[in-house]
Amino acid sequence: MNILVLHGPNLNLLGKRQPEIYGHQTLNDINAALDQFVASLSINVVLKIKQSNHEGELVSIIGHHMEWADGILINPAAYTHTSIAIRDALTTVDVPIVEIHLSNIYAREEFRHHSFISGVAAGVVSGFGAYSYILGLQAMIHILGPNTTENLEQ
Ligand code: DQA
Repeated sequence: MNILVLHGPNLNLLGKRQPEIYGHQTLNDINAALDQFVASLSINVVLKIKQSNHEGELVSIIGHHMEWADGILINPAAYTHTSIAIRDALTTVDVPIVEIHLSNIYAREEFRHHSFISGVAAGVVSGFGAYSYILGLQAMIHILGPNTTENLEQ
């Protein structure tokens, strides 16, 4: 299965950016942990990982992977709270979306409590630091994989 992993604006600065909120791990550390997790699996999972600080570029990346991706793991960062364009792009691709946040957005400022993305996501993982990405990837594999509850019921 092919999974597109998208990191939104300012996540390239992880490690230096408000470590008391976002932790000390860099984006490279997070990406390496995702690759390592995938390598430990006995099923074939292909990750393509991208980061952009630009809303339009994120929209283009999503559209570009329309045929390729079986699922999209996305931390839209600040665009979570503002971007109808990213929501529309995700809806257009029509594959499962898992929304990721390092911090617990519901325990922070009120403007972070609303997400334009959650309404089109299969689920949201928020508040577990870098581990949110691993949990989100596990959830995505569960959704796409052969051992989903749906398949067990058949
Ligand atoms: C974030 C939460 C957003 O509110 C914020 O704008 C980010 C990161 C997170 O991962 O906790 O840039 O998405």
